[in-house]
Amino acid sequence: MSSVVAKSYNSRADPVVAYCSEHTTVQTPLQVELQKETLANAPHSMMLGAPEVLTFGQNFIKAFGGKRALDVGTFTGASALAWALAVPEDGEVFTFDIDHTNYNKFGVPILSKDQKTFKKIKTVEGPAVDSLNKLIADGQSGTFDFAFIDADKTSYPAYYEKCVTLLRKGGVILVDNSLRGGKVADEKQREDPQNGAIHATNDIIYKDDRTYSALLNLGDGTHVAFKK
Ligand SMILES: C[S@@+](CC[C@H](N)C(=O)[O-])C[C@H]1O[C@@H](n2cnc3c(N)ncnc32)[C@H](O)[C@@H]1O
Repeated sequence: MSSVVAKSYNSRADPVVAYCSEHTTVQTPLQVELQKETLANAPHSMMLGAPEVLTFGQNFIKAFGGKRALDVGTFTGASALAWALAVPEDGEVFTFDIDHTNYNKFGVPILSKDQKTFKKIKTVEGPAVDSLNKLIADGQSGTFDFAFIDADKTSYPAYYEKCVTLLRKGGVILVDNSLRGGKVADEKQREDPQNGAIHATNDIIYKDDRTYSALLNLGDGTHVAFKK
């Protein structure tokens, strides 16, 4: 199935996607450096968050003065850096990954050049469902302003559920990869467990009375949910 869904840094990106990204993406020199380093040297570099999606998320955080962000899936730290740049000096970004090797190897040497931003990032290593459950058990429900979901696809329904619980009223969740290169629109391809899980997450969000939502063709698909 051909598709116009793609991250802008992918050279096969549709020209309309490229045009939208050119009129959306704003990056600091450190973000550009991290993107270059990740694409050149990190394993599975295409996991890197699309810069147009990161700018979109930063705009929400800045517009409503968000202070506390959840970042589910760190990789080399591009999304964590974006949220850390958007929150104020006393803001916090909790970034979760099952293994922070890529963050420590590729992200930290670049991010640590800006200590003011770097110190806002709190890394939490381990299965993210467990880490989010721990925050809930610690009484942090309703205390976060923003969440970005971008880790293992089969856990997306659980991540969405935990993030709704952890967000305050008016908080925003961005769910990345919500179109999976267009595969979720193809019934046959939904038999794949990862595509199926994303399709299920899209259904859950659309039917969820606790949030207002919209599924956008931005990056690899971005499902936006606002907590009522
Ligand atoms: C797509 S990448 C994240 C990209 C990152 N958000 C960015 O903007 O560049 C997905 C990450 O999820 C992590 N991951 C996979 N399974 C996980 C799990 N069960 N719990 C937490 N993280 C997991 C992977 O190690 C990987 O670094």
